[in-house]
Amino acid sequence: MSDGDTYEIIDDMPEIPRLPGQVVLSETLDEAIDAIGMDIVSQARACVRAFGDFHLALSGGSTPMPLYERMMIDPAYREMPWRRTHLWIVDERCVPFDHEKSNFGQISELICGHSDIPRAQVHPIHASEDDAAERYERELREVLGWREKGHDRLDFVLLGMGDDGHTASLFPHSPALHVVDRLACFNRGPSVTPPDRVTMTYGLINAARFVGALVTGRKKAPMLHRIVNGTDSAAEIPIKGIAPIGGEFRWYLDADAARWPV
Ligand code: 6PG
Repeated sequence: MSDGDTYEIIDDMPEIPRLPGQVVLSETLDEAIDAIGMDIVSQARACVRAFGDFHLALSGGSTPMPLYERMMIDPAYREMPWRRTHLWIVDERCVPFDHEKSNFGQISELICGHSDIPRAQVHPIHASEDDAAERYERELREVLGWREKGHDRLDFVLLGMGDDGHTASLFPHSPALHVVDRLACFNRGPSVTPPDRVTMTYGLINAARFVGALVTGRKKAPMLHRIVNGTDSAAEIPIKGIAPIGGEFRWYLDADAARWPV
C-alpha cells in the first residue's frame, strides 16, 4: 500500500441493546459462542473450587450445538472440569431419547461420549414417561440436597430464545408460566411447539447462580427489539420472566441479533 492510499474504517457494530441483565455483544456467532463457553468454564472452575462440583443445565435448540461440539474438541476448553460436573437438561420434548427431536439425545451424543463426565452425573429428563416432571424434581432435590443449604441450586443455566420469545419450554400464555410450586413441569397447549414438553420452571431457573442466554442470528432481532422497546408482559414474551434472585443474568448476542430494523 502506498502513502497516498486511504483506509475506510467500517464500524458496523450495532449499539449494545439495553436488555434486562448484562449484555455481551460479539461481532460474530463464533465469538458469541466462545464468550458464553469461556464463562461456563470459569464458573465451573470457581464452583468446583468452592463446592467440589458444578451443576450445569443445558438447553436444546440449534443455537448451542456448535458450542457443545467446540467444548469437546477445542483445546481452549481443556480446563472444563467434566469429571466434577453434573449435567442437567433445561427442557425436553416428550419423545424417546433416540428421536431426532430429543434434546438429551443430541446433547449426550455431543458431550457424554466425548468427555469424562461420569454417567451417574448425567441427568436426562425421561419426558416420554407420565411421571417425568415429578421424577426430575425428585432427582434435582436429592442431588442438589447433597450441597450445603443455600448452595443447593443450579450453578449455570444456559438458555436460548425462540422467535416468539419463549425460553426453555416456557411458551407464551402456556400453563407452565403459572407453575410456582414445582421445579419442573409438563407444558402443553396451542402455543407449545409440538411435541409436548417438560421444562424447568421459572422458580428453578431464577434460583440459579448464573443464567446465560445465547441468542444469535437475524431471526432473533425483531424479538430482542420488542423486549427492549415494548411493554409486553412475561406471559406474552416468556424470556422477560427470567430474573435470577441473587444470581447473574447475562445475554450473549452476535451483531446480527442486535442489528435492528429501523
Ligand atoms: C428447545 C429449547 C428452546 C430453544 C429455543 C431456541 O429445546 O427447543 O430449549 O427454548 O432454546 O427454541 O431455539 P434455537 O436455538 O433452535 O433457535
